[in-house]
Amino acid sequence: MRLSSYFLPVLKENPSEAQIVSHRLMLRAGLIRQSAAGIYTWLPLGFRVLKKIEQIVREEQDAAGAQELLMPTIQPAELWQKSGRYDDYGKEMLRITDRHERPLLYGPTNEEMLTDIVASEWKSYRDLPKILYHIQWKFRDEVRPRFGVMRGREFLMKDAYSFDLDKAGARRSYNRMFVAYLRTFARLGLKAIPMQADTGPIGGDLSHEFIILAETGESGVFCDKALVERDVLNEAVDYNGDLQPIVDSWTAPYAATDEKHDVARFEALPKDRQIAARGIEVGHIFYFGTKYSKPMGAVVQGPNGESITLEMGSYGIGVSRLVGAIIEASHDDNGIIWPMSIAPFHVGLINLKVGDADCDKACDDLYAKLKTAGFDVLYEDRDERAGAKFATMDLIGLPYQITVGPRGLKSGLVEVKNRATGEKEELSIEAALNKLAQAKPA
Ligand SMILES: Nc1ncnc2c1ncn2[C@@H]1O[C@H](COP(=O)(O)OP(=O)(O)O)[C@@H](O)[C@H]1O
Ligand SMILES: [Mg+2]
Repeated sequence: MRLSSYFLPVLKENPSEAQIVSHRLMLRAGLIRQSAAGIYTWLPLGFRVLKKIEQIVREEQDAAGAQELLMPTIQPAELWQKSGRYDDYGKEMLRITDRHERPLLYGPTNEEMLTDIVASEWKSYRDLPKILYHIQWKFRDEVRPRFGVMRGREFLMKDAYSFDLDKAGARRSYNRMFVAYLRTFARLGLKAIPMQADTGPIGGDLSHEFIILAETGESGVFCDKALVERDVLNEAVDYNGDLQPIVDSWTAPYAATDEKHDVARFEALPKDRQIAARGIEVGHIFYFGTKYSKPMGAVVQGPNGESITLEMGSYGIGVSRLVGAIIEASHDDNGIIWPMSIAPFHVGLINLKVGDADCDKACDDLYAKLKTAGFDVLYEDRDERAGAKFATMDLIGLPYQITVGPRGLKSGLVEVKNRATGEKEELSIEAALNKLAQAKPA
């Protein structure tokens, strides 16, 4: 992509409405613009990141055996009347009436809708187990939308729902999602710690929030330092094998959100291992038994003709919130530092002297070669001061910058900068290409 024709409205000044660094940087780097409180347009650069995150989430759900579908954003109120949540949900639900005076709503979540589909389609125990998911916009009319995409009113969520014949099966589904979440966040370059979370009125211990530690986080959290120091889950997982040992290894050390905090257990840890911090909830998994299957009639016939009410769980990831969370975890004074796996472009190619025949030619050549090698390249081909070009590149945070100037070119050299480390190297064009080839994500 040539920057001269790209829609990238960067801001020089810090926008006054933004209270936290990720919101500030998302506005300044031209990722989003607010349309109304808590509702955003994703501009081209931000949209690329959102799509890359979505794709990683999708790949890991698929790997765990979940099947993707797509439910609508608008739901009939009737479904929620059946489950009893229509009145309970309160003002966060955006209620709509159509021209025939039929009550509709903009979905804040999809338990009812999917349980209803399952109830009418599945008749036999042979139809189970299954995990279904979609990645769809939600609307919750939050009292205080804030921090940009972190707490929006309209936001993109991956929500999965598991259906099993018994509790043991539900536990296996829960474990699949638990492990898929560990892998998803690791691929996003994040250290997300699973913490015991509130299960609400149903009780039980099967609810975990996946939390990124950050000063600007909205949740108070407590955990054993062992979890913070632990390596993220990078190795491949056999989802058909027994996942309980992996889950146990992550849940044995103490970790809880403030609603589930057990002061005695926490204080039994050595002082230097007690972490009391703030965190951002990027995912939440939940087992809730027959809470929806019972009222909505999601019942199948067992092998001996008996009726089985399905055991369910639900599993959310805040896809749009993740863009902000990743920036909170990865930035410096000059701007964003994208991990390679989700960077909107892998490389920024900076032409220091647009119009100079040698610089233009070297850049055109590099641009073509990088693209052939599979890199997403943003080519800074505008007629601007060098300082402004560098500042923009640092602000938008592409992992690598290649700078081409007349002086270096005389000796056949370009400069490669690693955005994360700040390390700069003068290399021949060949060597620069080789260097990047090593960093390329699979
Ligand atoms: N208002 C919001 N804006 C952005 N993301 C949200 C919002 N509410 C929830 N999410 C994301 O969706 C995931 C699943 O939501 P859920 O746990 O149902 O919401 P909550 O924790 O607010 O009850 C959360 O872990 C979070 O990452
Ligand atoms: Mg939650």
